[in-house]
Amino acid sequence: MAPKINSLAILVMSTILINIITFGSANFNKEVDVTWGDGRAKILNNGDLLTLSLDKTSGSGFQSKDEYMFAKIDTQLKLVPGNSAGTVTAYFLSSQGPTHDEIDFEFLGNLSGEPYILHTNVYAQGKGNREQQFYLWFDPTADFHTYSILWNPQRIIFSVDGTPIREFKNLESRGVPYPKNQPMRIYSSLWNADDWATRGGLIKTDWSKAPFTASYRNYKADACIILNSNSCTGKNISWFNQELDATSQAKLKWARNHFMIYNYCADSNRFPQGFPTECTIM
Ligand SMILES: *[C@@H]1O[C@H](CO)[C@@H](O)[C@H](O)[C@H]1NC(C)=O
Ligand SMILES: *[C@@H]1O[C@H](CO)[C@@H](O)[C@H](O)[C@H]1NC(C)=O
Repeated sequence: MAPKINSLAILVMSTILINIITFGSANFNKEVDVTWGDGRAKILNNGDLLTLSLDKTSGSGFQSKDEYMFAKIDTQLKLVPGNSAGTVTAYFLSSQGPTHDEIDFEFLGNLSGEPYILHTNVYAQGKGNREQQFYLWFDPTADFHTYSILWNPQRIIFSVDGTPIREFKNLESRGVPYPKNQPMRIYSSLWNADDWATRGGLIKTDWSKAPFTASYRNYKADACIILNSNSCTGKNISWFNQELDATSQAKLKWARNHFMIYNYCADSNRFPQGFPTECTIM
């Protein structure tokens, strides 16, 4: 009797586990719409994989079907391999209109073996100019890595493989606008920006290497979705109040000390009249 009960228990448990896993990583067919690129964006493997490609004629892109009002979004990306100079893979949250909010990841390609730049920015009510840039501590073209945006009422946290690299706090009480009134969608695109992307535009796209392809998998949006009612999906909405604990603070410091290559808050040439308010507080 006992062995039978055990194997039944194992069967039940593994079924539960499988359900959690499949529920956890959503299907691209369900979550996103391909919006441009005339067939250059493809959803493959029954929705488990999405690829964007770029050639001399066009890039391509997709956007989330849902609009989010606060979210924690994790996606795995594998960037354009080889000579990706001149290409930009953008992955960001954005609302619409002239006073839009935006939370950006942009991956600036490079010559083979030379480092990508991960460019980040935050726009609130139409105003950006908050660039911070990083090198990565791995080759982002060799395998998939997880890039996450946590956006809750108190803070925005950008993370790479679970390591926070940037935090933008809600400092409305000090007069700094914060994105919290406009719902946002995820947008992603692969496009040519060889007028600025690689070494400031010095290195151009080598079209003989086209098409360029970036891949996406395991799109996971724990979010409050703007639909009929303001409901937050998922049983675990601890992200809604999440902040950086001591371990995460230490990781953030490590990433910034070793991999940050540009910080608007340290660019005194750019702000001769004094740094923006958030720079003096964070
Ligand atoms: C490309 O490589 C050069 C040389 O290593 C480096 O200076 C630059 O930051 C790299 N990244 C980009 C996007 O230009
Ligand atoms: C809920 O999510 C947080 C991080 O977002 C995680 O640390 C915690 O373990 C999760 N809790 C459960 C029960 O899954």
